[in-house]
Amino acid sequence: MPGKILVTGGAGYIGSHTTLLLLEAGYQVVVVDNLSNSSLESLRRVENLTGKEVVFYKADIREKDKLISIFEEHQIDGVVHFAGLKAVGESTQIPLEYYEQNVYGTVSLLKVMQQFNCLRIVFSSSATVYGDPATVPITEDFPVSATNPYGRSKLYIEEIMRDLAISNDAWNIILLRYFNPIGAHDSGQIGEDPQGIPNNLMPYISQVAVGKRDKLSVFGGDYPTIDGTGVRDYIHVVDLSDAHVKAIQKIESLNGVSTFNLGTGKGYSVLQMVDAFKEGAGKAVPYEIVERRPGDIAECWADASLAEKILGWKASRGLQEMVNDTWRWQSSNPNGYKN
Ligand code: NAD
Ligand code: WQD
Repeated sequence: MPGKILVTGGAGYIGSHTTLLLLEAGYQVVVVDNLSNSSLESLRRVENLTGKEVVFYKADIREKDKLISIFEEHQIDGVVHFAGLKAVGESTQIPLEYYEQNVYGTVSLLKVMQQFNCLRIVFSSSATVYGDPATVPITEDFPVSATNPYGRSKLYIEEIMRDLAISNDAWNIILLRYFNPIGAHDSGQIGEDPQGIPNNLMPYISQVAVGKRDKLSVFGGDYPTIDGTGVRDYIHVVDLSDAHVKAIQKIESLNGVSTFNLGTGKGYSVLQMVDAFKEGAGKAVPYEIVERRPGDIAECWADASLAEKILGWKASRGLQEMVNDTWRWQSSNPNGYKN
């Protein structure tokens, strides 16, 4: 039965799409976000699109007092936890910031949840926890490892949550390991709005297509893949968000910790993405093949059949829809939420 969900990081890319879908599914949503990597405009647009209210608190998840007053004010039935830092390269430069915001921030949130006996949480983990997988597709029982502080922070949080579930079997915890989220809501109103130079492929391609950047640097042309460029499992952000709604709907029946891959099960190379963009946006994307990016792997895609079996979730949007929706968002908001 729908209730009230706290969404941390709800003003961000995946959080805003998930907030929209939770509202559409009949949930009330309370968002906590420090706006370090987002703007309130995303939630204003979510309210316009849904005709429903988002209760918003500008707060940092490390500020336990603020979290306590939010839990005092609202009877929270479950938490979807997105808040955290996510740039792999940056995490190697400022590792302590990643451990503090991601790991300590999560501990702070979990303590307050425990205090209020709110024991249901869905957590944003990442396919990065599989390191360099020996084979593809990847199932949830593959060995995990990390090569950078960002990935390590996700692994630590997963372990902390497992310890918590052992300490008290009333916890219901769902770890969602995302593959590569791209795309935007089909209204073109909300989407990914990276600050500065994008780290990820799709926002970079779309900024080249819209004329904000000259050309794409393709990191490596000599991988043992279909065309020498890296292969990833790109998943539409609305499919990904829908998995969070399904997770919240099922969470009460899943005791302890459950872990699911969220991907499509298909991999596309960098050059295939460039071609798909050309096709969908009608814009050429000039590119140059350069050195491999340190830490990158050749290929990675998910076996997401467990999520289908247990959550009743399967990605339904294909590559062309991901590209078209990205382009609709980027071309109607060339400067993101900054008008
Ligand atoms: P995002 O940066 O758009 O969203 C994160 C949100 O959390 C932002 O609105 C930011 O302002 C907020 N935030 C950050 N630190 C905070 C803190 N200490 N207190 C309160 N709010 C804070 O990123 P996203 O792409 O939407 O990612 C959401 C989650 O999913 C992250 O945990 C990320 O690690 C994880 N994830 C993302 C990807 C991806 O490629 N986008 C892949 C796998 C996992
Ligand atoms: C995809 C492909 C690049 C940019 C990262 C994180 C992972 C997760 C998702 C959070 C690769 C190539 C990229 C560019 C390029 N995030 N590329 N030129 O590296 O698979 O995953 O984001 O959890 O943890 O590591 O995604 O979009 O950066 O790269 O050629 O300018 O595109 O080499 O093959 P990645 P990505």
